[in-house]
Amino acid sequence: MGMVGGGNGAFIGAVHRIAAAINQDVDLVCGVFSADKGRSLESGRSLYLDEDRCYGSYEEMFDCEARLPADQRMEFVAIVTPNHLHFPVAIAALRHGFHVISDKPATMNLQQAIELKGAIEDSGCLYALSHAYTGYPLIKQARYLIEKGELGNVIKVVVEYSQGWLASKEDEQSKQASWRLDPEMAGSSCCIGDIGVHAANLVEYVSGLEIAELCADISSMVVGRRLDDDGTVIVRFNNGAKGVLIVSQIAIGEENNLRLRIYGDRKSIEWSQQEPNTLWLRSNTEPTQQIRTGVGELCLAAQMATRTPAGHPEGYLEAFANIYKNFVLQIRAYQRGEKADSKSFDVPGIDEAIRGMAFIENTVEASQSNMKWKTFSVN
Ligand SMILES: NC(=O)c1ccc[n+]([C@@H]2O[C@H](COP(=O)([O-])OP(=O)(O)OC[C@H]3O[C@@H](n4cnc5c(N)ncnc54)[C@H](O)[C@@H]3O)[C@@H](O)[C@H]2O)c1
Repeated sequence: MGMVGGGNGAFIGAVHRIAAAINQDVDLVCGVFSADKGRSLESGRSLYLDEDRCYGSYEEMFDCEARLPADQRMEFVAIVTPNHLHFPVAIAALRHGFHVISDKPATMNLQQAIELKGAIEDSGCLYALSHAYTGYPLIKQARYLIEKGELGNVIKVVVEYSQGWLASKEDEQSKQASWRLDPEMAGSSCCIGDIGVHAANLVEYVSGLEIAELCADISSMVVGRRLDDDGTVIVRFNNGAKGVLIVSQIAIGEENNLRLRIYGDRKSIEWSQQEPNTLWLRSNTEPTQQIRTGVGELCLAAQMATRTPAGHPEGYLEAFANIYKNFVLQIRAYQRGEKADSKSFDVPGIDEAIRGMAFIENTVEASQSNMKWKTFSVN
């Protein structure tokens, strides 16, 4: 594995490296960890990498790695830079024949995501998007319960993703905040692009439904910001179910409160990212069930996503590692010449990337519009 971004002091790069390492089937062999060559080298040294393979730019890295013998060169690249680089780095990697795992949002806009799909198809390489929250065992179980009809027809969805880390002007000083609030580096949205896109992806993944229409109200609650830090989106799904997404980065005291409730016409489920090893299954007539990671007969996908015996808590890093685990299985199948599509390996791929970018664009547009309902278009 090679990496672009994720130098010393960065947030998600280290999470990717830990997630890849948990599975014990990936070695980080090279990287460009900063736009500055000296800093890239410094970060590479602290990761005990061969100095010759700590590069100064992603173009140089792909050129040099592609010239190495096949058994030495990296097989795939993890893209963990600010958003504006995801698209050009992914395109360059694919052109050099490298598989890509990119962080979200996949690109700066929907048009780029559609172009990226074309580039993936032309290259024949694989592409994964690290929607890590889909990697939790009980998210797999929730999806399974809905798929087998345990809830009946889904009629109502409530998803909340609240954080408080951007609540004040002073919070803008951090490395992570500065580019997220800059449209040149983040795209058309901060809050919706950064966390709303996770919430939308999680809802569609678990429910199996697609957002069909939406009505949005997004704002910059801290005065002077060029991008949103808060939003509410009312959605209608393709089966007629109704829902609401509440997302915020200015909700003081909130850590990473991603919470999902899905109501069917028979039963409902509730799951919260900060207590990920519990899934609640409720009805009006039967006792409430508390489903726990690793306990009882869970679906195969939940079992495959579980690493430790019941009662040994698993969390975010393991969920992230499950994205890597499945992506590596997908790469191995591809190398054996077998069918290796993202859906069969339960890996978020370019279709999720396109829906994510469509979600951001439609939400921003709907919020600016005076019309109440906006058709969810993907082109
Ligand atoms: N999947 C998730 O749960 C999740 C969580 C957090 C962040 N993210 C995403 O991950 C990405 C990075 O976010 P972050 O919070 O880690 O940002 P960050 O600012 O902490 O880190 C970005 C890193 O990219 C490096 N970089 C910048 N330009 C570069 C270049 N030209 N070449 C090489 N490296 C370069 C920076 O030096 C830095 O090390 C964002 O797209 C964000 O949306 C995803």
